[in-house]
Amino acid sequence: MERLLVAETPKMVGQKVKVAGWVNVRRAHGKIVFIDLRDRSGILQCVFLPSNKEACEAVAEVRPEWVVELTGEVVARPEKMVNPELITGTVELSVEGLNVLSKAETLPFAIDTDGMEISEEVRMKYRYLDLRRERLRQNLIMRHKVSTFVRNFLTNEGFIEIETPTLTKSTPEGSRDFVVPSRLHPGKFYALPQSPQQYKQLLMVAGLERYFQLARCLRDEDPRGDRQTEHTQIDVEMSFIQQHDFIELYERLLIDLVEALFPEKKIQQIPFPRLTYKEAMEKYQSDKPDLREDKNDKNLLAFCWVVDFPFFEKDDEGGWTFTHNPFSAPKPEHMDWLMKKENIGEILTTQYDIALNGWEVGGGSIRNNTPEAIEKVFEVMGYEKEEIKEKFGHMIEAYTFGAPPHGGIGSGIDRLVALLLGEPNIREVIAFPKTGDGRDLMMDAPSEIYPKQLEELHISVAKPKTKIKKEKK
Ligand code: AMO
Repeated sequence: MERLLVAETPKMVGQKVKVAGWVNVRRAHGKIVFIDLRDRSGILQCVFLPSNKEACEAVAEVRPEWVVELTGEVVARPEKMVNPELITGTVELSVEGLNVLSKAETLPFAIDTDGMEISEEVRMKYRYLDLRRERLRQNLIMRHKVSTFVRNFLTNEGFIEIETPTLTKSTPEGSRDFVVPSRLHPGKFYALPQSPQQYKQLLMVAGLERYFQLARCLRDEDPRGDRQTEHTQIDVEMSFIQQHDFIELYERLLIDLVEALFPEKKIQQIPFPRLTYKEAMEKYQSDKPDLREDKNDKNLLAFCWVVDFPFFEKDDEGGWTFTHNPFSAPKPEHMDWLMKKENIGEILTTQYDIALNGWEVGGGSIRNNTPEAIEKVFEVMGYEKEEIKEKFGHMIEAYTFGAPPHGGIGSGIDRLVALLLGEPNIREVIAFPKTGDGRDLMMDAPSEIYPKQLEELHISVAKPKTKIKKEKK
């Protein structure tokens, strides 16, 4: 007999079936024993009647979270026993046979709560058990639906998904790089991508015109509620467009996504309001303002675009640095200032950020598509000609071979899904997130490596100045 998902049982009344899953709860009422069996489709009540001696004896030793296979007859529940809370609430399984597939120790924590009462350390160490929690399971399912929706939407708009490398060269996104030592090239390092920015632009030079990727981005920064060392971006780039074309496309994607997958949500204002950076700062003292009219309404979504950011700002040493993205184009009317390196502080960029309920859920721009303009940005930032050539020579050269006007966005899918699901922390929508101090407690990463590996990588490790406290086992 083939295994059946428990959700299928209501249409099998009177038939013999085989189901399998985890023992969610086991309870005895006098001589009758009940098991709530859990599989990926839901929960099914299974009854062991005393008349079936063999099964009753077998179930006596069964404990929660054991994995079992049950055979029996699906019977309709009497009307007053119907449980509308369960997808299988109209039926139960009258068990005839029980086969234990795997036993389980007592779990380190309860999984029938929302988990918020358990310490982060314990949840992360046993994340594979934490994920048995219904809330987290549903979060991952919804995340998958969001990704699938995005893929289908962009595919229908003529975009193709292209994978870009993970071992690459540092690209400035305003954060620290994670680096990977090269065995074959002593003393040299790859950088893990902070985003696929340069590759996606080069795909536009290549003539692909419409690219997207659900791209993993790695940034060596301190994790917090809306930030992880690894996050995923809906990364998009598109040729032959102006700023408003891209904004309209991405806005349509978000509206359609909310309507299709979160019909209970209400978008406060369509089209999304567009604020200049100056307005946002003056009115809301934030460049990602929370525009919700009723902050207690958990179904209200207030998207807004923020545009007209300054291109450059002063860095700690008094020089100029980019505010968002060094590859952005200035607003067309300010291109002349950039090329003449005039009025630097007043140059505005084509950057557009999108905020949702006070979180930045995306940012993008129209890019510079001439080698001269790309070079000029780095000159403003005080790079010497030689350094520009060494670090960005490949980009500047690429743009000498015919580059269309183009632009795009990187939009944090973790943040978007967390907000749509009403989660306070992006960790709740990531299968295996890092802790607040950037560790994977389950895998014990980061960890030391064997001296032989260090030797092969031509690396010697200086003793850390402060000893990092080891996790108690
Ligand atoms: P930016 O650095 O603004 O732009 O990132 C784009 C979006 O990615 C999300 N995000 C994060 N989410 C979780 N944890 C993090 N550490 C984290 N960092 C960023 C945010 C943010 O808005 N290459 C450009 C995009 C472009 O211009 O196309 C970029 O990466 O939602």
